[in-house]
Amino acid sequence: MPTLNDIRSTFLSYFAKQGHEVVDSSPLVPRNDPTLMFANSGMVQFKNLFTGLEHRDYKRATTAQKCVRAGGKHNDLDNVGYTARHHTFFEMLGNFSFGDYFKSEAIPFAWELITKELDIPKDRLLVTVYHTDDEAADIWKKTAGLSDDRIIRIPTNDNFWMMGPTGPCGPCTEIFFDHGEQHWGGPPGSPEEDGDRFVEIWNLVFMQYEQFEDGSRKELAAQSIDTGMGIERVAALLQGTNDNYATDLMRSLIEASADASNTDPDGPGKTHHRVIADHLRSTSFLMADGVMPSNDGRGYVLRRIMRRAMRHAHLLGVQDPLMHRLVPALVQKMGAAYPELGRAQALIEETLKLEETRFKQTLDRGLKLLDEEVAGLPEGSALPGRAAFKLYDTYGFPLDLTQDALREQGRTVDTDGFAEAMAEQKAKARAAWSGSGEAADATVWFDVADAHGTTDFLGYDTETAEGQIVALVQDGAEVKAAGQGQEVQIALNQSPFYAESGGQVGDTGVIRTDSGIAKVRDTRKTAGVFVHIATVTEGRIATGEAAMLEVDHDRRTSIRANHSATHLLHEALRRALGDHVAQRGSLNAEDRLRFDFSHTKALEPAELARVEDEVNAYIRQNAPVETRIMTPDDARAIGAQALFGEKYGDEVRVVSMGLDPQSGKGGNGATYSLELCGGTHVRQTGDIGVFVTLAESASSAGVRRIEALTGAEAFRHLSGQSQRLSDVASTLKAQPADVPERVRALLDERKALSNEVAQLRRELAMSGGGQATPEARQINGVALVAQVLSGVTGKDLPALIDEHKARIGSGAVLLIADAGGKAAVAAGVTEDLTGRVSAVDLVKAAVVELGGKGGGGRPDMAQGGGRDAANAEAAIKAAEAVLKS
Ligand code: ALA
Repeated sequence: MPTLNDIRSTFLSYFAKQGHEVVDSSPLVPRNDPTLMFANSGMVQFKNLFTGLEHRDYKRATTAQKCVRAGGKHNDLDNVGYTARHHTFFEMLGNFSFGDYFKSEAIPFAWELITKELDIPKDRLLVTVYHTDDEAADIWKKTAGLSDDRIIRIPTNDNFWMMGPTGPCGPCTEIFFDHGEQHWGGPPGSPEEDGDRFVEIWNLVFMQYEQFEDGSRKELAAQSIDTGMGIERVAALLQGTNDNYATDLMRSLIEASADASNTDPDGPGKTHHRVIADHLRSTSFLMADGVMPSNDGRGYVLRRIMRRAMRHAHLLGVQDPLMHRLVPALVQKMGAAYPELGRAQALIEETLKLEETRFKQTLDRGLKLLDEEVAGLPEGSALPGRAAFKLYDTYGFPLDLTQDALREQGRTVDTDGFAEAMAEQKAKARAAWSGSGEAADATVWFDVADAHGTTDFLGYDTETAEGQIVALVQDGAEVKAAGQGQEVQIALNQSPFYAESGGQVGDTGVIRTDSGIAKVRDTRKTAGVFVHIATVTEGRIATGEAAMLEVDHDRRTSIRANHSATHLLHEALRRALGDHVAQRGSLNAEDRLRFDFSHTKALEPAELARVEDEVNAYIRQNAPVETRIMTPDDARAIGAQALFGEKYGDEVRVVSMGLDPQSGKGGNGATYSLELCGGTHVRQTGDIGVFVTLAESASSAGVRRIEALTGAEAFRHLSGQSQRLSDVASTLKAQPADVPERVRALLDERKALSNEVAQLRRELAMSGGGQATPEARQINGVALVAQVLSGVTGKDLPALIDEHKARIGSGAVLLIADAGGKAAVAAGVTEDLTGRVSAVDLVKAAVVELGGKGGGGRPDMAQGGGRDAANAEAAIKAAEAVLKS
């Protein structure tokens, strides 16, 4: 009996033999479709190949595609567990032709595969075709020899497949398997077609048209093929059952659930096990593709699925968290085909455990409240919306969980009342916001958030994605479109652009639609909506349009490197300076990083060098950078650095990088740096390249600031430095390595020379400097030597004064140095006269004439200066007047 894994291999290798490229499943979060929440069929990743927008070097492909149908348009969540074939996660096998082969090959391929490779008995098969598609009917007849009553013509949309309201589409033919008379049901097209007897196993779509928003259709340039086979259904029939949950893979998960809960897989808990098995697959695969539980968008769909499974685990009577214990069974079964599952195993287990532990805290109380509410209701009447909202708001019960819980009692929920209560709560949040003094402009973004939800951020995993423009805002008001040259703020349902927060600057890049291009120069966040601040550079853009979003890759790469380096720097500082080091602010821009931290004194150059060295050592370690989701308490318990005073939600991203020097292991506290952070980071620390500090300074009291560079900027800085060193070396005619020694020698030489010059000047001045040594004149009984000198500076004067004093033995000296028009003045009085005359008075009098102020010193020696050396004679006169008085 072929297992599900065998069937997958048989399918892919059959089409590989037929010249098809085996292409990996695309991630569950579509990168190229703005309207889809999750990939829900194999053709999603090839959409643009069908329309001719994109070309690859193959024209035939085959895939096993991961699909999720929960949330969004296709939502099977409510039925899972209660039917034989509904899943939130399933695999679709497909073969694709992009303008290569068409109907006449696609049908024989399918027939050969199912009847020869998979050995499905011919007489149990029948097909449908679109009622006008004679060609397909003929090919079936020729290929399979099916009688006319086994080629059923269907006039409805069941046999015209469309991806969505727009996009590639075409008539299709479907292959059905007859599970036999023991099952109720009729062939397709009959009133009993929804029964379990005839089950569609494969849909072949003849892609011929592209449908546009206005309903018009255009022929595709090349006719193509898109097929989808539900692997679980085929596994069921090959394994002799019509219940997908009885197939090998689903059964092994059900048994894992039964073992872990110590219950009977087929007993009263049967439905619970089916729900758990299905939800284990969808939640694990979503997390492996980067979706994390949250209160918005895709993350909320994930959380709803998780909580639904957890309630069913609770109904099994399980006390401890269950889901995470089942992950190994899933990885064992599906990890070989989908290696991402194994890679994310730890993250999946940890997140499931966390979610279940937390949800358990409110689940009991919530269920009790639900019982009480229901007890007061008349038989069969709906639960009031307000009660359902309370369960949602206070106990974390998603609406569909409450609906699921009431389903067994045949009750529904008043969903209008629920929506009303939700709207009221949003209005309150808005009022609180407008009262908080934020710009009035912000209110428009609350309207956008109300109407279209918050923005789903895709930028942890990708820098390009498609999004749908949900709103355009100019001057604080919504507009329908914006034209060339206009400034506009753009909101999309999802975006890879990072919106400024946590010190990381917003992304820049380009937004392209069919009708125009906008350049994004910044991205901010208000009310959960990412606001792309842009200018329309070509054509026009309008709301409702699909847009190709492209983040400026080089810039983001630099920002990422700077942000990750900031984490390493933080840790290196903490280890070098002590645990008191805490982040006080940061900037992670494209060209530099800045990190402010608590520390009271400047770093010694040696400390700074050690920190820089350590950061670079961890960069060279090239260890993976890992992100996990935890409660803030758990994160702190394993030593994550949190921002002091920052408010964190119920859960936080924990970014770890670098291997702990002692244990050499990553993960769980054994990493070098562990921080709560919502930013984007490098994959490996080596991606940072190199780290160079530029400056260390005081930022405010008790806070130091380090500015630094990484990657290309750091390299540019270093090579600039090196270039300057070479220039200096060549000027000195020395080797770069000898420059410091040479510069020191030059400075020593310069000092010696300037001492020598000063000495020579003094000698020159004493010897008259070309001027005659002045004779002392007797004024009021005091011998005065007064002279105006050029070629000396103020600094030379005291020594000259002393020499004059020694020469005359008793008296006063007044010297004025004329230094390029400015004057320095000094006066000296010999000891025997300081009782009668003060050098300070002489200088003060002279300074006034020289256009200066003040002047001072001791009675035997004083100095001053002024602007006007030209008044030197008057200054001497003023000093003489002092002596005369
Ligand atoms: N795209 C087609 C489907 O999903 C094959 O059924």
